[in-house]
Amino acid sequence: MRVLVTGASGRLGRVVLPRLRDGFAVRAVSRHPRGGSDVEWVVADLATGEGLTAAVAEVEAVLHLASSPTRRTHEVDVLGTRRLVEAAGQAGVGHLVFVSIVGVDRVPFGYYRHKLAAEQVVTAGPVPWSILRATQFPEFLEELLRAAGRLGPVIGDPAVLAQPVDPADVAARLAGMLAAGPSYVVEEYGGPQVLRFDEAVHAWRAARRSRRPLLRVRIPGRLGRALRAGGLTTTATPTGTRTWADHLADTYGGTGRR
Ligand SMILES: NC(=O)c1ccc[n+]([C@@H]2O[C@H](COP(=O)([O-])OP(=O)(O)OC[C@H]3O[C@@H](n4cnc5c(N)ncnc54)[C@H](OP(=O)(O)O)[C@@H]3O)[C@@H](O)[C@H]2O)c1
Repeated sequence: MRVLVTGASGRLGRVVLPRLRDGFAVRAVSRHPRGGSDVEWVVADLATGEGLTAAVAEVEAVLHLASSPTRRTHEVDVLGTRRLVEAAGQAGVGHLVFVSIVGVDRVPFGYYRHKLAAEQVVTAGPVPWSILRATQFPEFLEELLRAAGRLGPVIGDPAVLAQPVDPADVAARLAGMLAAGPSYVVEEYGGPQVLRFDEAVHAWRAARRSRRPLLRVRIPGRLGRALRAGGLTTTATPTGTRTWADHLADTYGGTGRR
């Protein structure tokens, strides 16, 4: 099966490409020319639509991972998804798999509103679809912790709940969805453990042998309530297999696996 992967150069895309090597012929999209032996790279831009018609030609499925969380999000995530879906519909693509985020329907982040709108573009569009909402990748959680520790102590709401899921687990799930064909279902997929923010910080500090204290700050309002109530977590099964401790052990060494 020939599959077009958008966002192929991103954190998830880089793990997905080798996962699809067996069983799929992969065409990968980037805004910039790239090379690679097993993958056919094409240049396309969701923000302008440039290159999309050629990108979707003669593919049977599209795995849509591309996203722009911090700039031109409406243009890329919502209008760009519409451009992609329309081009795929005209090309007769048989299945579009879209990756979204657990909590887009209940946590009031601006980015999540755009992801939810992009989901609606997919479900209303002409191409048979499947959607996977994943929880946070551990690398993203680490970026948040580094940002939260910029001023010295790690600042955060100890009771916020997270459920990191490894991109390799997500990639395996996505390969299964591509093989299975359109489900017309929005599936949720999380990591094997739900952690409080203070537990995640504690394990992170131990792995890095850091003594930074946690400065406890309660996030106010609707956002704080949603985050503490588990808005970013899911009870869906199956879950991924790799824990936050596995990620920390792989990244920083040590024997902290559980
Ligand atoms: N990060 C997380 O914790 C997390 C959790 C759950 C779900 N997700 C979802 O998983 C997906 C992948 O996330 P990620 O963390 O791997 O993303 P990422 O590392 O930020 O990569 C973003 C990708 O989007 C592409 N892109 C950005 N603007 C584009 C445009 N105008 N046209 C075409 N491509 C464009 C980039 O490609 P080029 O720069 O090569 O053009 C890049 O490959 C996203 O949909 C995200 O919402 C992420």
